[in-house]
Amino acid sequence: MKKFKKILISAGPTREKIDPVRFISNRSSGKMGYALAEKAVDFAENVVLVSGPVNLEVPSGVQCINIESAAEMAAAMFHESHDADLIIMCAAVADYRPKFVHDTKMKKSDGDLTIVLERTTDILKTLGENKKAGQILAGFAAETNDILENAQSKLERKNLDFIIANDVSSSSQGGFAKDVNAVTIIDRSGHREVFDLCSKKELAGKILKYIAVY
Ligand code: CTP
Repeated sequence: MKKFKKILISAGPTREKIDPVRFISNRSSGKMGYALAEKAVDFAENVVLVSGPVNLEVPSGVQCINIESAAEMAAAMFHESHDADLIIMCAAVADYRPKFVHDTKMKKSDGDLTIVLERTTDILKTLGENKKAGQILAGFAAETNDILENAQSKLERKNLDFIIANDVSSSSQGGFAKDVNAVTIIDRSGHREVFDLCSKKELAGKILKYIAVY
């Protein structure tokens, strides 16, 4: 079912530089985003993946743009978004980056060290503010508590068509860096569709099918 012209997906973590050898990042493995990209080939003529540093093979038929920082991901996503009819932000984008990046390796000294952080661009929110006619925008909400309420408010705040709510609490069986996941998709009307625990590849196919027939 080739329903879309171009599906644009982001995946993986970002790295925010402190100095030439250090960075701030997170535990995202990229598995969910890569699984979506692999399945997206069945739903679109053109699939573009914007990926942070991960240890995964690019699925066949997918064009991959490798980035490191949130700023680089933002630039690639905005550039690729113009002709995309479905955009899925699956990446774990850093919300903050060091305000000052040292050109040379920082030397330790006695006592504490404070690193001042500044906000990065909210890529998904910006895409929502600039949404083209007919463009479908989906985001992920990784939550540990009040999962559906938090996800729903993100959908509204960022002008999304779908939000995929993900329980990443330690008590959940799926989520960050795992091979399995369970999610609830919330749409603009507030309808909630539950997808039980299964492999991320299987889940990716179900998510895309759900969005495609919507
Ligand atoms: N996202 C983004 N740009 C950012 C941060 C997040 O595009 N700078 C996207 C993610 O890819 C994901 C969604 O926004 O699709 C997550 O929403 P967000 O509000 O950032 O959730 P959290 O990071 O969980 O932040 P919080 O719960 O603290 O608001």
